Amino acid sequence: MSIPAHLLHPFSEPIKPEADFINIVSAEGAVLTDDTGKQYLDGMASLWYCQVGHGRREMIDAITAQARKLATYNTFDPFTNEPARAVAALIADKSPFDDPRVFLGCSGSEAVDTALKIARLVQQRRGHDDKQIIIRRTHGYHGTNFGGTAAQGIAPNREGWGDLVPHFIEVPNDNIEDVAKAFARHGERIAAVISEPVQGAGGVWPPEDGYLQGLRRLCDQHRSLLVFDEVICGFGRTGSWFGAQTFGVTPDLMTFAKGVSSGYQPLSGVIVAPDVAQELCEPGFMLRTGYTYSGHPMACAAGVANIKLIESDGLVERANDIGKKTVEGLDALVADGIIKGYRGVGAVWAADVGRDAVPLKRDMLDRGVVIRGVGEGIIWCPPLVVSDDQIAQFIETLAEVLK
Ligand SMILES: Cc1ncc(COP(=O)(O)O)c(C=O)c1O
Repeated sequence: MSIPAHLLHPFSEPIKPEADFINIVSAEGAVLTDDTGKQYLDGMASLWYCQVGHGRREMIDAITAQARKLATYNTFDPFTNEPARAVAALIADKSPFDDPRVFLGCSGSEAVDTALKIARLVQQRRGHDDKQIIIRRTHGYHGTNFGGTAAQGIAPNREGWGDLVPHFIEVPNDNIEDVAKAFARHGERIAAVISEPVQGAGGVWPPEDGYLQGLRRLCDQHRSLLVFDEVICGFGRTGSWFGAQTFGVTPDLMTFAKGVSSGYQPLSGVIVAPDVAQELCEPGFMLRTGYTYSGHPMACAAGVANIKLIESDGLVERANDIGKKTVEGLDALVADGIIKGYRGVGAVWAADVGRDAVPLKRDMLDRGVVIRGVGEGIIWCPPLVVSDDQIAQFIETLAEVLK
């Protein structure tokens, strides 16, 4: 039977024949199976998102139960639903804020664009009409909608789409002095700085010591807002519920997606600090943004079940154990001269292989391990249910491929 070739894959060469893609047919825990029966260790938790692992009965049951009761309805005024309320309350509770507000969407890109819009909106409502500039960092990845594309610090992702959203300024990703210079020049016009706590898709770059604190200080000095894009870092990945807590810096707006539902349903959003949310609470003011599927009941039911599972399985703490075990293995590879070094935190790591890592992805796949290659980094971001034996499998496979 011929394979239909209609599907246009994201971040792929459209010329590539559909038959050359790996057809994943099932998954359990941290293991994937393709249509030939070959198994793979999912060292990327799909795309940095499947915290609770694949095939969790609790997730499927919660989604099914919600589908039977209320499969879909919107939350535009005057409607609401129980799962949307419940997931917002749980997310607020895990966040570093007392009594924040939580906006809901379906994708990280929607969350980022909404956070950027709210940042500019709030500046205008505070009377700072000139504050429109958003500072972005080199290596930053903030999704592929127009706002997130303009916020990207990965140049090729910004190219080819015509004019992007104006008023974005890029700073190198690791030097707070460069940010200070941008503020010295443009401070009166800077609405916000957007930063991942640990830059993910750009290659796993944890912040330099004091860097995020420096962003907080500069934003405070210039009445600019600090936006943490926690789409990868959120929900346990860095060894706390959010990167904000891991690094001890509280932003004004936080985006989340991915780990909030472990990807069982598309769910994302923006956590809005109480003093920022206050600006939106004037009688008669209407928040004119939102998505058809904001607060989708099945997605929110998945979020509720997922957060409860992360809690009952102790996965936030497990992320730190995964980190320790991964570091043991990576230390051994450094000692043997197989890799140059590594960087990361919690359960998200990059091994520095000292050469182009992109082609190594195929070699790892052939040996049954899914990783990503970014620059000279091999990325490891497994489900938080990955076992110690599976961590060892990743390290051994990496050593085989590099020898
Ligand atoms: C930090 C960050 N922000 C935003 C996004 C965009 O999320 P989505 O692909 O769900 O739109 C991603 C996706 O990888 C991300 O890593």
